[in-house]
Amino acid sequence: MDARTFWEETYEKQSPQTSGKPSAVLERFVAGRPVGRALELGCGKGDDAVWLAKGGWQVTAVDISETALGYARANALRNGVQDNIAFAAHDLDTSLPGGTFDLVTAQFLQSPLEFARDKILNRAAQQVVTNGLLLITTHGSRPSWSSAPEDMVFPTPAQARDALGLDMSRWKTVTVDNFERMATGPKGEKGSVIDTVIALERI
Ligand SMILES: C[S@@+](CC[C@H](N)C(=O)[O-])C[C@H]1O[C@@H](n2cnc3c(N)ncnc32)[C@H](O)[C@@H]1O
Repeated sequence: MDARTFWEETYEKQSPQTSGKPSAVLERFVAGRPVGRALELGCGKGDDAVWLAKGGWQVTAVDISETALGYARANALRNGVQDNIAFAAHDLDTSLPGGTFDLVTAQFLQSPLEFARDKILNRAAQQVVTNGLLLITTHGSRPSWSSAPEDMVFPTPAQARDALGLDMSRWKTVTVDNFERMATGPKGEKGSVIDTVIALERI
């Protein structure tokens, strides 16, 4: 199955309802930063884009799924920030929006299908302006409710950073680390999960 069909079918099975909350890592690392232009990769139903726009950011938010983007646009409208977010459909394997950004955020830009994730993130990193932030979060553990194989191995934060292939002389490390938090699964299950976070500032 191709990526677009997979993610369309995934979102078509879901309700448009959202948590109304931003990703924990986004809030932790972006709250209080000077606002500007943000690029969000893999925006899903738009809670992060809406949170950024409510905080004064001008957001470009992209996803491969038109259904997810439809939910995200409705989310922005509900929150009165539709004029501050440009939603766009992109298969990031083949295209990225142009421009430069004070923030590039990719929260769980992950897929069970093959895609050139590290290459995409490296390309998007080149769009971060001086003093801007690159913020990437990936799953660093398998929650109890996950259907992923139990013996799944997660890269360390340093391995995840190195895989991006960035010239680290051009980046200041804000954090490259694992953070534990309590999360809720799709059936309301509670459990601790680990977020692997790469936050780098362009110098
Ligand atoms: C695990 S979800 C995370 C969604 C959201 N960022 C969040 O934290 O809830 C991954 C997202 O990446 C999107 N995605 C996956 N592959 C993509 C691709 N090749 N191009 C653009 N978006 C993609 C999916 O449609 C999905 O919305």
